[in-house]
Amino acid sequence: MTAQLIDGNALSKQLRAEVATRAAALTARGVKPGLAVVLVGENPASQVYVRNKVKACEDAGMHSVLEKYADTMTEAELLARVDALNNDPSIHGILVQLPLPKGIDAHKVIEAIAPEKDVDGFHVASAGALMVGQEGFKPCTPYGCMKMLEFIGVDPKGKHAVVIGRSNIVGKPMAMLLLQANATVTVCHSATPDLAHFTRQADIVVAAVGKRNVLTADMVKPGAVVLDVGMNRTEEGKLCGDVDFDGVKEVASWITPVPGGVGPMTITMLLVNTIESAERAAA
Ligand code: GUN
Repeated sequence: MTAQLIDGNALSKQLRAEVATRAAALTARGVKPGLAVVLVGENPASQVYVRNKVKACEDAGMHSVLEKYADTMTEAELLARVDALNNDPSIHGILVQLPLPKGIDAHKVIEAIAPEKDVDGFHVASAGALMVGQEGFKPCTPYGCMKMLEFIGVDPKGKHAVVIGRSNIVGKPMAMLLLQANATVTVCHSATPDLAHFTRQADIVVAAVGKRNVLTADMVKPGAVVLDVGMNRTEEGKLCGDVDFDGVKEVASWITPVPGGVGPMTITMLLVNTIESAERAAA
């Protein structure tokens, strides 16, 4: 069996076109949707991510502000900037890029963002809303994974989903979203003694560890759907995920490639959350 590819670029293009239509409609009513992206320090990966986020915003016809600060910025100074953005009516989404430099408490900064502008979905209020099934912003990467399942017509209801990884950004919210969609969910992590025992039972596997070859062909049930959130590099510097793509694609029914799978969906769902926030503010 050779798996079908879940094309994150194609789905992103479709969803971003919908966002652009909504952005144009709001702009025509005098409300231009706005996203503020705050970057502190010189992390090279973060520089690329924020540039891509700002560009995607502009391509969708939304207003974006990129605020870059030196890593000498203090926590108090950053909190003051977040406060100013909370009170800026032209800004509907605030994203503080992580990781933050040493000496700045990321939790404190995220909690300072107004929950109605928390388009990353990282605020405890957003996490809590997800936990209890209330309305709130969903973290972009797991939200994008759910959209991919919908796109390929796979309903998680009644399926066994195994999430590998328990981060606050991906693993935990992913498990919550799958649970909300009526899947039976198992969360595996670094202290899981026999990972393959669980993954072999899975109809849906989401790999979100940040380590190459965490999931190999022998660990996958024939016909499973495999979503790869990993973003790693081979020794030769080639981009790769957490999944042994070449092996697993021979066993799975659907699989996301890296690059071109989950990656573009993260930014797409950020745009979706931002337009949603702007629409709520304009209502
Ligand atoms: N760092 C890595 N991924 C993300 C993300 O989705 N949002 C923010 N704010 N920081 C990140």
